[in-house]
Formats: sequence, structure tokens, C-alpha cells
Amino acid sequence: MPAPPPARPEVESLQSYSAPLEGRRGLLRLDFNENTVGPSPRVVEAIRAIPADHYAIYPEYDGLREAVLASLADMAGAIVAAAPSTAPVPAVAPSVAPGVAPVIRADGVPALATVPLPQQPARRPSLRVEQVGLFNGVDAAIHALFQAYGAPGDRLLTTSPTFGYYTPCARMQGMVIEAIPYRMPGFAFPFEEILAALTTPPAEADGSWRPPSLLLLCNPNNPTGTRLAPEAVLALAAAAPHTLVVVDELYEAFTGDSVLPLLLAPGGRQDPEGAAGADPFAACPNLLVLRSLSKTAGIAGLRIGFAIGAAAVVDRVSRVTGPYDINSFAVSAAFAALADQPYVDAYVAEVLAARQWLVERLVAAGVRHHVDGGNYLLIWPQRPAAEVDQALREAGILVRSMAGKPLIDGSLRVSLGTLEQMGRFWEAFVVCDARPI
Ligand SMILES: Cc1ncc(COP(=O)(O)O)c(C=O)c1O
Repeated sequence: MPAPPPARPEVESLQSYSAPLEGRRGLLRLDFNENTVGPSPRVVEAIRAIPADHYAIYPEYDGLREAVLASLADMAGAIVAAAPSTAPVPAVAPSVAPGVAPVIRADGVPALATVPLPQQPARRPSLRVEQVGLFNGVDAAIHALFQAYGAPGDRLLTTSPTFGYYTPCARMQGMVIEAIPYRMPGFAFPFEEILAALTTPPAEADGSWRPPSLLLLCNPNNPTGTRLAPEAVLALAAAAPHTLVVVDELYEAFTGDSVLPLLLAPGGRQDPEGAAGADPFAACPNLLVLRSLSKTAGIAGLRIGFAIGAAAVVDRVSRVTGPYDINSFAVSAAFAALADQPYVDAYVAEVLAARQWLVERLVAAGVRHHVDGGNYLLIWPQRPAAEVDQALREAGILVRSMAGKPLIDGSLRVSLGTLEQMGRFWEAFVVCDARPI
């Protein structure tokens, strides 16, 4: 039999990205950081209300970008009115971050100060519909942005360990991957190292050195939870105008920090004139923000995600997708989910309470763990992680083994759900890890 034609060399050397996603229904799913209770009843009603004859029609997206914008504007208003970010802000030399307020370290130790929002006239920049890209989940947005911006031989700069899908996307484009480890102890963000890799050719570089074409920042980082202050994200974007800086904010709603409130703040730093309606990305056109309804709104199975940035970038990333990649069910669900922010807020509050409850148990029992941003934490069992993982599975609870991942090999990533669910997890964990109760 003749051999089938080979694919591109980059594809021939790839393995398909397969997550262990089968047979999970009916179990307590603490393995993929999904919402653990499902969507708002308004989403369910919206799906049920789709008449069968609409299944025959290609999906329509009218008004969805506007709905995303309305929800972002509400969110920015609410967050700006509340306290500023408490995530550490690394020191930034003023020369590398024009327009971004630096926090200068005196002693070389990362500064823990926060940068207050500037006091300027209370006029708010606003996003336009062209600045919102719609995708079949953020995974599809990530795939598309690599296709649009990652040429063979270009560099992807990112951190390690981080979200697993960046690497295959870079590989399929034939990109070179530079992944900078988090700093131990504590998985601190390697700010200076990332800044140097973005801006400074290595000593041995010849004249052809170029900055990376892509910087992928997962904030808070999955799986370490590392939080990066939005000021630091803006500083990195300002320092590398020729790099597309992508900030994957999938988990910012739980315990995290988004650049959007800063960009959308009245008289915000991206809008020195304080002009109402000014483009929030005018001073950082190389920044792209990723958001999804998978983890908070509970519609991971329907697949919808957003990319927000300069209109020119959103346009480029959207050029490499198909015309109907998002299906009609996801569109109806997204409208309903975006219109029910109180449901999401209540779920997030429940997860945060459950997180505190579980952390208290872990501390009291002396279980090694690491918790920071996001709706997940890392636990190092005293028995081999694979055995505890398997024993939990037999007890009907799925967690994610971090075996083989740099810095966190031997840990289990446990997604956070409701108080009742974390109670079930804890009861099973103490048995599976042979701990005295
Ligand atoms: C950091 C990060 N980005 C993106 C995704 C994919 O999100 P979506 O469900 O919107 O495709 C995930 C899902 O686990 C994630 O953890």
C-alpha cells in the first residue's frame, strides 16, 4: 500500500494534544479547573429556547461583541471602585517602561508595593466592537494567534511550568520555545529574566537577533497560581513593542489581577488626555488579553472565549479562523451567561470560601501545598502522587497529576469547587494519603 502523504515537518514531529478527558461524567471533577456546578439557570433556559429549525441555520454573532463589552465595562467599573491589586509589582527601570509608573527597588528584593491608579479626570476610555475577537474557546484563540503571529524560527517566550497548550501551538508553527522557570521558593514570577529575554540579545548573539514574536503570560498562572500585577504586564508590553504580549486571564475572576480595569480606568494611564472614548490599547497595541466563559460561567462544554486588544491585532488573529467556528448554542449561552453576572459572582465567592476552608485543613494537617491565584492549588501527598491520584479516582474524585512537570513533579493540582465538594475531597484525601484525621 502506498504511504499517505506526509504532513508539514512540524506536524510530523508533533503528538496530538490529548488531555485525559474521557469518562469524567458522574465523578467529582477537580482535574480541569472547570466550574463544578454548571451554568446559570438563565443559560439553560436560553439553550432550551432555541427552536429546532434554528439548528439548520449557520450561527449569527450580531450583538455578542457588544454584550462582551458591556460586561467588561461593568466589571471595570466595579473593580476600579474597589481596592487596587495586591499582587507583587516587580521593580521596573523607568527607561524600559515608558508611560508605566515604576516601583523602584532600593535593595534588589522584589518590591511588594502596589501602584495606585493615577488621579486624573474621571473620563473613561472605551473599547470598540472591533477590539473583541470571538473564538471557539480560548484554546482556539491561542491556536489562532500562533498561526497569525508565529512564523517558523520565531521565538515564543513564556514561563515554566505553565498552561500546556502554548507549547504544541508553538511547535506546529516551527517556533523556538524559550520557557523561563518560576523562581523558587514560592514560584515567584521571573520578571527580570523575562524582561532580559525580551529586550537583550544574549552575549553570543550575532547581528540577526530579534525580540521574540510572542510572549505568553498566564496570569494567574496555571498550575502554580503565580499572580503578576497588571502594572508589570503593561511594563513588559511597553518594553517590547515588537513582541505580541498575550496575557491569558482565564482565572482572573477567582483570585487574580486583570490589566483591563487599569486600561479602562477613568483617565487611565493609557489615556493621558483623559479623553472619553479613547482607545484603551492606544499605548499598548501589542497587548492581547484572553478571557473565557469556561471556568467561571460554567459553559466549558459549549466552547466560547474572547481576545481583547488593539483592533488591528484582533483582526489579524481573526483572519485565521473559519467563518462559523462558534456554534449557535455557544452564542445563546454566552448572551445569557454575560447577562447574569450575579450568578458568576456568587459561584466565585463560594469557591473562595471553599479555598479558605481547605487551606485551613491543609495547614492544620501539615500537608505541603502551594496556593496563590486561580481556582486550584497544588498538594504534595506523602504517598507517591500516582497512587493517591489513583485512590482518589477509585473514590470518585478526579485530580490532575503534575508528574513530569518542572518544579512541581510529585504534586497534584486540585481544582476548587464548592464547600461541600471540598469537604468530600478532604475526607477522601486523608484516607488515600494515609493521614491520621
Ligand atoms: C490558562 C488556560 N488558558 C486557556 C484554557 C482554555 O480555555 P477554554 O476552555 O476557553 O478553551 C485553559 C483551560 O484549562 C487554561 O487553563
